[in-house]
Amino acid sequence: MSLVNMGDMLNHAYKHGYAIGAFDLVSLDFLEGIISAAERCEAPVILSLAESHFAYFDFELIMSAVVAAARRTDVPVAIHLDHGECLKSAVTGINLGCNGVMIDSSNQALTENINLTRSVVDMAHSCGIPVEGELGYVPGVEGEDAERHPGEIAYTTVSEAKLYVEQTGVDFLAVSIGTVHGRMQGEPKLDYLRLQEINDAINIPLVIHGGTGLSDDQYQQLINRGVSKINYYTSLADVAGLRIRENTQNNPLNGYTGLADGVQETISTEVERCINLWGSALRAKEVVAQCEAWSPVEHLIIYNVKGITGDETIAMINEGKTILSSIPGVLEIITGHSIQDDDSYRYTWLIRFCHRAVIESYRNHHLHVAFANTLFRPVAGERISIDYQTH
Ligand code: 13P
Repeated sequence: MSLVNMGDMLNHAYKHGYAIGAFDLVSLDFLEGIISAAERCEAPVILSLAESHFAYFDFELIMSAVVAAARRTDVPVAIHLDHGECLKSAVTGINLGCNGVMIDSSNQALTENINLTRSVVDMAHSCGIPVEGELGYVPGVEGEDAERHPGEIAYTTVSEAKLYVEQTGVDFLAVSIGTVHGRMQGEPKLDYLRLQEINDAINIPLVIHGGTGLSDDQYQQLINRGVSKINYYTSLADVAGLRIRENTQNNPLNGYTGLADGVQETISTEVERCINLWGSALRAKEVVAQCEAWSPVEHLIIYNVKGITGDETIAMINEGKTILSSIPGVLEIITGHSIQDDDSYRYTWLIRFCHRAVIESYRNHHLHVAFANTLFRPVAGERISIDYQTH
């Protein structure tokens, strides 16, 4: 399995002068098309899920497939929450399996943007997860996805970028230097000098949103100035739409599978073009070797209860599951009881953390402390507790 630490992944790209594609996906055709392109190119890739697209799919359901795809492939993968809107969204993304999150409060005043970003960074870092912030504003102009980013472009300034990074502790910065979400109108004019100055001032991987529609040379100029992650969606949606229209023309009686025929392949071809352009092809092996493998830690408790009935025990367990599953970094909670009546340890909790960092942040989290001190420890008798790093 090749889920890897996204911070390590982007720092590798930043250090070695290439960019990794963060491709937004809205269906299994996108997921499979992106992964197969990364496999053909032996490239690291970021599977990106934008909160602005949650109307198109069930985030929880699709995340099961995304995590399974990331585990099954040999190429290095990170799973990213794109355009997260608030702290709660970031926690949800992490608890469903994202190992990188973006907080997008770029439409707010600088102080509010800093405060919200800082709260997401504190939470995510306590789970071992890096954060992308955005400063300046990348609007949409026309076509697919544009309407989800209303308003005017606001360029990132160097001084604000420096302050924002210092005060928030973000790991990557999305900058606004002339790109737009959606289809480009005319020849986009990118402010390379501004980008260079931001890169010199903050020295962390930079991110470009609105990746669709730039020329080969423009991508290269961005990468030369610190851009290590390029967000890309509209062009994938457009090639998929084109294929569906062709399928309709070829056979107006096509049903669903006939209309969707070849969509995955056409998305994959476009992803492959980007990967080759952005310099991430043939990097998979070195990235896997140099990045922390991203695998969960399991917090296992086996225990007995004393002084309460079986029903009261089940009520305590159910309440615990509800409370504890909302703590950042908790991927899953499995509980059970022993099948043999005479076992000396009759009950179990298996709590799956996204990363080893969560062992401490979970232990100190106020919800865990309150549950453990009031509902669990007073009735828990003999117990064994172990944290396992899974492989
Ligand atoms: P495009 O849709 O313009 O490629 O931009 C994608 C994006 O920035 C997602 O965050």
